Amino acid sequence: MTSTSIFKEKLIKIFAPSIFYAIPPISLICLYFYFHSFAPFFTPITHQSSLYASTPKEREKINGNTCDYSNGTWIHDNRSLLYDGTTCKIKKSQNCILNGRPNSSYLDWRWKPSECNLPIFEPNTFLKLINNMHIAFVGDSLARNQIESLICLLSTSSKPKRVHHPGSRKWYFASHNATLSFYWSPFLVKGDQRKPKGPNYNTIYLDHVNERWFRDIDQMDLIVLSLGHWFMFPSIYYEGDFVIGCLNCHGLKFNYTDIGFYGPLRKALRTSINSIIERKISNGNGIDVIVRTFSPSHFEGEWDKGGTCSKSEPYRNQERKLEGVDADIRSIQIEELENAKPKAKQFGLNLELLDITKLTLLRSDGHAGAYMNPFPFANGIPKYIQNDCVHWCLPGVVDTWNEIFLEMINKGKDHLKVEK
Ligand SMILES: *[C@@H]1O[C@H](CO)[C@@H](O)[C@H](O)[C@H]1NC(C)=O
Ligand SMILES: *[C@@H]1O[C@H](CO)[C@@H](O)[C@H](O)[C@H]1NC(C)=O
Ligand SMILES: *[C@@H]1O[C@H](CO)[C@@H](O)[C@H](O)[C@H]1NC(C)=O
Ligand SMILES: *[C@@H]1O[C@H](CO)[C@@H](O)[C@H](O)[C@H]1NC(C)=O
Ligand SMILES: *[C@@H]1O[C@H](CO)[C@@H](O)[C@H](O)[C@H]1NC(C)=O
Repeated sequence: MTSTSIFKEKLIKIFAPSIFYAIPPISLICLYFYFHSFAPFFTPITHQSSLYASTPKEREKINGNTCDYSNGTWIHDNRSLLYDGTTCKIKKSQNCILNGRPNSSYLDWRWKPSECNLPIFEPNTFLKLINNMHIAFVGDSLARNQIESLICLLSTSSKPKRVHHPGSRKWYFASHNATLSFYWSPFLVKGDQRKPKGPNYNTIYLDHVNERWFRDIDQMDLIVLSLGHWFMFPSIYYEGDFVIGCLNCHGLKFNYTDIGFYGPLRKALRTSINSIIERKISNGNGIDVIVRTFSPSHFEGEWDKGGTCSKSEPYRNQERKLEGVDADIRSIQIEELENAKPKAKQFGLNLELLDITKLTLLRSDGHAGAYMNPFPFANGIPKYIQNDCVHWCLPGVVDTWNEIFLEMINKGKDHLKVEK
C-alpha cells in the first residue's frame, strides 16, 4: 500500500464513524485535548437586537401572513452570541470556539427571509409554547446537531435535567414540564449501519419502522424527522424477507441490482410517516410531525480524501444554486410529506416541513471543518487534516433552524396540539 492509501484506510476508520455516528468514537479523538479553562473570546450573551422583529406585536404581524422562511438571503450582522457553552454542553467536535477557530466572522450573519423578518430566538417564548409537551428529534447526527443547539438556546433561560432513558437522550425542563429527546435512527426504518470493523455496508429494512423510537411515540407530541447522509453509503435493501437491490455493492461481491438510494430513501420516509399515521388511527392519540429537509455538506474534494470547506463567508443568494443530490433529496422529502398530507389530515395529524436546505446550502463557512479537533494547526499545517464539512459549529447556522422551528410552532399553535 502507498502511504496515501494507508492514510485513506485510516481516515475511513476514524473519520467515517466520527462524522456519521451519533455517539461513539469522536470522543476518542478529542479526549486527549480538552481545555476547560479556555475562555471564549466573544461578547456576553444578550437577547436583544433592534434588527429583529422580536416584540410580540411585530411577531403577531408576521404571523398574520404566511412567510416562506426558506427563501431569503444571509445579511451581515454582528449579532451577539446566543450562548457560549457555559449553560449547556456543546459536543467537542462542534465546539469550534473552544477548538480554537480563530475567526468568528461565521457568527456574524442572520437569515433574512425575503418576505418577512425572522425573530431572534427567545428561549422563554419557546418554553411557553412547548409547555407540557414532549418533542422528539428522530434521525441522524444532524438531528442531534439541531437538538443540541436547541438545548443550548433554551438553557440560557431554564436549565434542563438529563433523564436516563434507554434508546434516547432526554432532557426535562421542570419549569415547563417539557421534554426534549433525541433518538438515533439514521434510516428512520430498521437497519444496521456499516461499521468500521465491518460489514462495510448498511443493511436497511425499508418496510419496517425502527422500534427504537417508534415504541415511544405514544409519549410524543411532536416528532421532528431527519434523514439523508447515511443513505449514501453502500447498502443492501430489504423489503419483507427479500433483498430488493443495493447501492454500490458490486465491489462487495454481491450480485444484486444497484437501485441507487433515492428510491430507498423515499420508501424509508414513507414507511415512517405511514407508521405514525396508522398508529394514530388505531389509538386516537394526536401527534404532529415535522420533516426537516436535507442539510447539505460542503466538501471541496471528497470527504475521505482530504476535502475541506474553506470558504469564510456565506454564498450570495444567486451564487450557489440548489441542485444535484441536495435538491433531489429535498424534493423527495417534500413530495413524501405532501403525498401523506391528505390521509394525515383526515385523522387529525399535522405534517409540516422545516425547509432549511437552501439557507444551509449557502453556509459553507459554518461547518466545523478542521476545528472538529482542538487546535488543528498548533504544530503548523499538517499534510493531511480531517475536516468535518457535514456538521455545524455551535453556536452557528443550526440556531437559525431553531429560530424557524420556533416560528412554526408559534404559528401552528392554533392547530398543533400544543395544549394537550
Ligand atoms: C458590531 O460592529 C460595530 C461596528 O463595526 C461595533 O461598533 C460593535 O461593537 C459590534 N458589536 C458587536 C456585538 O460585536
Ligand atoms: C475573518 O475573515 C473575514 C473573511 O475572510 C476577513 O474579512 C476578516 O479580516 C477576518 N478576521 C480576522 C480577525 O482574521
Ligand atoms: C425568493 O425571493 C426572491 C426575492 O428575494 C424572489 O425573487 C424569488 O422569486 C423567490 N424565490 C422563490 C422560490 O420564492
Ligand atoms: C407533563 O407533561 C406530560 C406530557 O409530556 C403530561 O402527560 C403530564 O400530564 C404533564 N404533567 C403535568 C403535571 O401537567
Ligand atoms: C448474477 O445474477 C444474474 C441474473 O440475476 C445471473 O445471470 C448471473 O449469473 C449472476 N452472476 C453471478 C456471478 O452469480
